[in-house]
Amino acid sequence: MADQAAEVSVDDLLPLEASSELERLAAKIAIHDKAYHQNDAPTITDADYDALRQRNDAIEARFPDLVRADSPSKRVGAAVREGFSKVEHAKPMLSLGNAFSDDDIEEFFERIRRFLNLDTGQPIEVVGEPKIDGLSVSARYEGGKLVQGATRGDGTTGENITANLRTLTDLPQIIGAADVPDVLEVRGEVYMSKADFSALNARQEAAGNKLFANPRNAAAGSLRQLDPEITRARPLSMFAYAAGDISAPFAPSQWTFLDKLKAWGFVTNPLTRLCQTAEGVIALYRHIGALRADLDYDIDGMVYKVNDFAWQERLGFVSRAPRWAIAHKFPAEKAETTLNEITIQVGRTGALTPVANLQPVTVGGVVVSRATLHNADEIERLGVREKDRVIIQRAGDVIPQVVSVVIDKRPDDTKPFQFPTTCPECGSVVVQEEGEVVRRCSGGLICPAQAIERLKHFVSRNAFDIEGLGGKHIENFRNDGLIKTPSDIFRLPDHRDKLEGREGWGDKSIDNLFQALEDRKHIELPRFIFALGIPHVGQATARLLAKQYVSLKGWIAAMEDATIIGSEAFSDLTNIDGIGPAVANDIIAFIREPHNRDELERLNTLLDVQNFEAPDENSSPVAGKTVVFTGTLETIGRNEAKAKAESLGAKVAGSVSKKTDIVIAGPGAGSKLKKAEELGLQVLSEQEWIDLIRET
Ligand code: IVH
Repeated sequence: MADQAAEVSVDDLLPLEASSELERLAAKIAIHDKAYHQNDAPTITDADYDALRQRNDAIEARFPDLVRADSPSKRVGAAVREGFSKVEHAKPMLSLGNAFSDDDIEEFFERIRRFLNLDTGQPIEVVGEPKIDGLSVSARYEGGKLVQGATRGDGTTGENITANLRTLTDLPQIIGAADVPDVLEVRGEVYMSKADFSALNARQEAAGNKLFANPRNAAAGSLRQLDPEITRARPLSMFAYAAGDISAPFAPSQWTFLDKLKAWGFVTNPLTRLCQTAEGVIALYRHIGALRADLDYDIDGMVYKVNDFAWQERLGFVSRAPRWAIAHKFPAEKAETTLNEITIQVGRTGALTPVANLQPVTVGGVVVSRATLHNADEIERLGVREKDRVIIQRAGDVIPQVVSVVIDKRPDDTKPFQFPTTCPECGSVVVQEEGEVVRRCSGGLICPAQAIERLKHFVSRNAFDIEGLGGKHIENFRNDGLIKTPSDIFRLPDHRDKLEGREGWGDKSIDNLFQALEDRKHIELPRFIFALGIPHVGQATARLLAKQYVSLKGWIAAMEDATIIGSEAFSDLTNIDGIGPAVANDIIAFIREPHNRDELERLNTLLDVQNFEAPDENSSPVAGKTVVFTGTLETIGRNEAKAKAESLGAKVAGSVSKKTDIVIAGPGAGSKLKKAEELGLQVLSEQEWIDLIRET
């Protein structure tokens, strides 16, 4: 992953960097947890997710003082989904640490040996079980009767899925045996077999329903149905593997515990084995790894558990995982197939992503017919061509990847892939910025793939800021074909009939919207340029352009001239302080695109874009002064305050020095305010600042 490569190594992080990195990781992991646990729709591979968690753990180990209250290491999974009642787990449902290599396994044994103070040669009995790729659940029996079923949820609180768990034939409803403790919680993994998954998807397809991406998602979607009858109709299975709350112990070890569960009618995994050494578990790992593709259920690794419960007790837990168990992950599953065609997808930001369309092939029980190729560089790196035989891999879930080309099997008539130079969606020219791998469509305003995001940007607060027209409205209008390009927004008043009767659009709100549109027809040039959403042209750049070219007409004419590389107009553009060649290229690519020029023309006839007026240096009390904003601004946004100050001829600086003239301090101002006071500078409250500039 590119953004991983750019990451600073944990050993080199400074405390401040570590703290912001932990914040970033907590937010990122929370998003992925939600996608995985609540929506059953993961968006990154398991391996990438593990990498995020590992980095978080490593930073926390180096900076224990910086561990956040909301640290992912203190959480397991995600919060419960609405719709089910909550179940507080009598004993938390924890997670497992991961091992990826033989060395990690040796170390796991060593750690246990050290902790328990065992002799070097002394065997450590370990139960090795396949790690089932499903969802963990807890089933509670009281007096031998199944009384409650719960998902793991966040490990402490899960969802009450009692009615759904009752539909599983792998779980006894009643345990008749006399030796059952009064309270017995059995935990295990609910999964869907590969055969059942294929049959279910075939039924879904025939009924015109959504297909499930993989057996795990199908199991999750089926188990977490609010209507248990739907769950009953879905073929779910379960392997039991652990205990939760238990009123009286009935087994001294994991092995005897599993035996007892079998006797009581639970299903345990038949590939479970007892091992004595690291070498023993590694041999079992290889053995089961070789069987993996032929098993009728997905497994993503092995789990090793210290057999003796008394030892488990002594070993205990570290944060969210037991010291007495570890998950040994399998590498991603691979398969060979033919790449029939490379097609291009255009994302919402205009990024062009090549996709490998494959001869359908089964990888780990899932039929894969498409894989991502990421970008043009990746195609080059792989040297992949249409019609090549390729190795693909499915790393746990989501989008499969092409790993390599089987060169020996390349047919004679192939040729290197030519990345398109025009956008397959709208025909606009494709551009690539220096130093960036991504290629983008330059038809920002007219490309259907980018339209919604561009339209939302166009009406956003720092752009046209049209009252009563939010992102959601734009999305709805666009989806219903009411607007396609920005100029259509200003033509909405011609289609009043199409707004009438829409949900949320009464006469009054339609009138208000049309009035707001009328008002916003008069717009300052910097806002207008910013609203166009040209890559890299933010508010500051838009202002620089407006200042240089003064009128919309002047700007467009100059940009058209600048499209001739080496022209005077081009050097004028790149000579503007603050506009580098990369930004200039983006602007030129935008202007070169005839569709964009047509749209600019339409906007120009509909709107009154005001010429840029340089602030009169003498009329403003802050002209020529250097000002610094610090603390929270309560009535205006930081960007707006900055833009306003600049429009009055002030220079806005980020730090306080002797050269600063005015410091505007809001609540929470800290070191900058202190420094201003030390230097005896003029300090104003936000209100005082507003009063000062209002006089102009
Ligand atoms: S034992 C405290 N055994 O893996 C230990 N977990 O990464 C609790 N899993 O949440 C887990 N097969 O969803 C255990 N044979 C197995 C398992 C297994 C799959 C899952 C389970 C757990 C996760 C931990």
